[in-house]
Amino acid sequence: MKYIRSDKEIQSIREACQVAATVLKQLVDTVEEGMTTYDLDQLGRKAIKELGAESACYNYRNGKHVFPAYTCLSVNEEIVHGIGTMRRVIRSGDVVSIDVVVRYGGFIGDNATTVLIAQGSDENAALIEATRESLNYAISYARAGNRVGDISNAVERFIKRHNYGIVREFVGHGVGKSMHELPQIPNFGRRGSGALLKPGMCLAIEPMINLGSSKVDMLDDGWTAVTHDRKASAHFEHTVLVTSEEPEILTIPKN
Ligand code: MF3
Ligand code: CO
Repeated sequence: MKYIRSDKEIQSIREACQVAATVLKQLVDTVEEGMTTYDLDQLGRKAIKELGAESACYNYRNGKHVFPAYTCLSVNEEIVHGIGTMRRVIRSGDVVSIDVVVRYGGFIGDNATTVLIAQGSDENAALIEATRESLNYAISYARAGNRVGDISNAVERFIKRHNYGIVREFVGHGVGKSMHELPQIPNFGRRGSGALLKPGMCLAIEPMINLGSSKVDMLDDGWTAVTHDRKASAHFEHTVLVTSEEPEILTIPKN
């Protein structure tokens, strides 16, 4: 059946998601001003290795571009797929998105969160909170009998209450043996549209929300997406299992 995982696959995805969540939590607990994004990426590399997993980002290919880092670290105007570098020192007030995707036992776990470093602005704090809440709201629609468009529309509806820009160029996705499986899950759309949700689907839901305009530019590295107006952007992501009851968020660390 379309996009449905077997019980055995689900168990493997659960384990991969626990690894991804554990690594992400370690990075969130460690990130502070004065570190470079390279330092943070190296901590991610080590944490992933220590748990017996590998980074699904490292060497990931998109056409001629090969991703050179172990995690995606996107600071301030960077939306997603930022590359850690010794040239970027994390400063007080920065909006840092940390995206960890691992492969473990042959399956993927994918999650991301955004943190405000030390003393941040109220407007950036509000952006981050709204993005986090839009993800939680969207997850509540990841139920058997709903459709992908119900998840998409939930993000859009939630964000409409603010004057933020919803990124359209990047979308959530199914998760399995590879990182980007079907169905695609945009962060906007019509209720009741798209694929029917059934128990056994594993979905990475990931709103990317801009403080200002939704317009996106790509940097010359071929990966880093930045806001056109260079205002801040936030990104949250969980991998979620659709069940016959409540959605199960697979990327909440259990211990
Ligand atoms: N969570 C991101 C995504 O689903 C991770 C991308 S890793 C990269 O797109 F290697 F493609 F950058
Ligand atoms: Co993802």
